[in-house]
Amino acid sequence: ILTLIWLLIISYLLGSIPTALIVGKLGYGVDIRTLGSGNLGGTNTFRSLGFTAGLIVTVIDVLKGSIAAALPYTMGVDINPMLAGLPAVLGHCYPIFAGFRGGKAVATSAGVLLLYSPFCFIAAASTFFITMYLSKYVSLASIIAAIIAHTYAIFFGDKVLSIVTFALVVFLLWRHRSNIERILNGTERKISWM
Ligand code: G3P
Repeated sequence: ILTLIWLLIISYLLGSIPTALIVGKLGYGVDIRTLGSGNLGGTNTFRSLGFTAGLIVTVIDVLKGSIAAALPYTMGVDINPMLAGLPAVLGHCYPIFAGFRGGKAVATSAGVLLLYSPFCFIAAASTFFITMYLSKYVSLASIIAAIIAHTYAIFFGDKVLSIVTFALVVFLLWRHRSNIERILNGTERKISWM
């Protein structure tokens, strides 16, 4: 039980690493929370600092989720990888290293999914890119991708995948509430690079 608690803490701390903040400060001398949507995520980094920075942040944020989901194997703890990854998702959104104001759960959840169910990840990722291409809204693409991940889980996944992806849909809707409001009143930022 002690190693299980350690695993959950490590997962949370891993997710808490504010990649967008670090890349912005070290690479560009800016606080990304003052730019664009103010979100500490890959999308806002693409938007505010360009392609290279955005890609670096996104890849590392995805990796945080995958590494957290791999902790049960590396630490030899008997917990479902999907559940082991959840504290990392929470850490990404509420990082202890950045005043508990972080990202919107998308990349880190994707990383957890990638490790636990690569096919579910592929279904969600392709939906994400198609929706993003058609709508130019990353937020909308993120929400629809999560819904597709949950739909996939219902038909092809196990119980844990179904429940966790459902929780993620609800959580993503909550984290994107300002984006949803902006989409509805037509002021949501569109991507310009696709
Ligand atoms: O990755 C989060 C994305 O879905 C929305 O980000 O910066 O447009 O609020 P943002």
